[in-house]
Amino acid sequence: MIKNQIDKKLPLIIGSSGKTGMRVAERFDSNGKNYRAGTRHSEIPFDWYDTNTWQKALHGINSVYMVFSPDLAVPGAPAIIKTFVNVAKICGVKHLVLLSGRGEVEAQDCEKIVMDSALDWTIVRSSWFAQNFSESFFLDDIVRGQVFLPIGEIKEPFVDIEDLADIVFAALTDKKHKGQIYEVTGSKLLTFREVFTEIETATGRRIDYQQISMDDYVKFMSEASVPQDYIALIKYLFTEVLDGRNASLTDGIQRALGRGPRSFHEYAKATAETGVWDNPAQANVSA
Ligand SMILES: NC(=O)c1ccc[n+]([C@@H]2O[C@H](COP(=O)([O-])OP(=O)(O)OC[C@H]3O[C@@H](n4cnc5c(N)ncnc54)[C@H](OP(=O)(O)O)[C@@H]3O)[C@@H](O)[C@H]2O)c1
Repeated sequence: MIKNQIDKKLPLIIGSSGKTGMRVAERFDSNGKNYRAGTRHSEIPFDWYDTNTWQKALHGINSVYMVFSPDLAVPGAPAIIKTFVNVAKICGVKHLVLLSGRGEVEAQDCEKIVMDSALDWTIVRSSWFAQNFSESFFLDDIVRGQVFLPIGEIKEPFVDIEDLADIVFAALTDKKHKGQIYEVTGSKLLTFREVFTEIETATGRRIDYQQISMDDYVKFMSEASVPQDYIALIKYLFTEVLDGRNASLTDGIQRALGRGPRSFHEYAKATAETGVWDNPAQANVSA
């Protein structure tokens, strides 16, 4: 599959090597459809923090899957999104599909910029990803069998990003999704303790989960040389977004796809079968 041809209009998949973008790109591949990859390391590079890369990456593009890194909640994100939307418009883009975060005021500011752009838009407003436990910051600790987190009995409707990628693919290929806000959650509210119990059941391995204070967690990350801006983001997500505000289910997946979400149980079972939670050698994903 030629991913970067510019002889006809293509979708640009920003973050095409990341958790959601990779899955969206896989759906284009398996359906025999072309797209352009948009990361700092793709053939035509795209960098949110380098406007010089934007016009070339947007040349010949009619729709964009917008995955902002590291997070729409970081300072300066709305200004970047605003500039990007204007450049996209000048470059002839017609449709923007924004990945947004549920319960994040800053992300909702970015949604508004996209919705006010006069371009077609689709918003996918997501709860926490189930795949954070297998492809992101929780993986190392799960493999070690010991998790310390500053989170109590708050419930979150973790969403399987296979469902999210199905929605983004549908939005980029079927005009009926234009003008829709899809707020997506999984099928069940779970505490972190319940999540680790699900993973224990799926893997047959014990996970010792302990709640610690935010101060101790920040100290622990600082001692592990985690960058300060990343610590600030984690602190924000764990205190503001995980305060119970998202402890409710939505029908976003049903509305977009005409079927319900994949359950956390199914995700845990399928993920355990890959062996990713068993092998310490694979436990090196940091963020
Ligand atoms: N994790 C969650 O639970 C959750 C929930 C709701 C919303 N979100 C949102 O999801 C987004 C992250 O999506 P994801 O998890 O699919 O991605 P990801 O796994 O974090 O991967 C990031 C992708 O973006 C690329 N990238 C990184 N920095 C970039 C930059 N400066 N310019 C252009 N591309 C860059 C990376 O490739 P290169 O490194 O090669 O550039 C990679 O393809 C964030 O906006 C976050 O707010 C996350």
